[in-house]
Amino acid sequence: MQSAVYPGSFDPITNGHLDIIQRASRVFDNVVVGVLHNPNKKPYFDIEERVEIIRKVVEPYGNVEVTSFEGLLVDFMRTKPDHVLVKGLRAFSDFEYEFQMAMMNRKLDESIETLFMMTGNRYSFVSSTLVKEIFLLDGNIEELVPPLVYESLKNKKERSLI
Ligand code: PNS
Repeated sequence: MQSAVYPGSFDPITNGHLDIIQRASRVFDNVVVGVLHNPNKKPYFDIEERVEIIRKVVEPYGNVEVTSFEGLLVDFMRTKPDHVLVKGLRAFSDFEYEFQMAMMNRKLDESIETLFMMTGNRYSFVSSTLVKEIFLLDGNIEELVPPLVYESLKNKKERSLI
């Protein structure tokens, strides 16, 4: 049995993230989506909202679970013994930072193996940051995120306007 952890901020989860989750769920017996709760940052969706949204979005995949974590990723990985760390690569530009993080995580804990999966071509330009920016400036992001995320973004925006 081989399991994986796929960590991220997921603020919000995009179709690019979902593409990696789907690919990982085919390769691994079990995939844990680890949602980072960083108390020093003010996310658009709070941690409970992000976990709830992702749980609903990954419902079709029977072998994917979603949980939040705080602090160092290596400490979270220690709570998941024998799990491989999966990261997504969109483009060459992601590589340098991801390489640095993989090496640093290995330095912090030699037992952690990082595996990279390539995002599908059509998602290679999608990021949570750009999705939020475009959405808040009234651009169309409908094809870039799962329908539930689009609805959640619209609801949040409407509530903030009241
Ligand atoms: O979706 P993101 O924000 O690109 O994900 C980055 C994430 C959460 C994987 C990374 O920031 C992380 O691992 N944060 C936890 C804190 C930590 O371990 N930092 C040292 C990384 S070498």
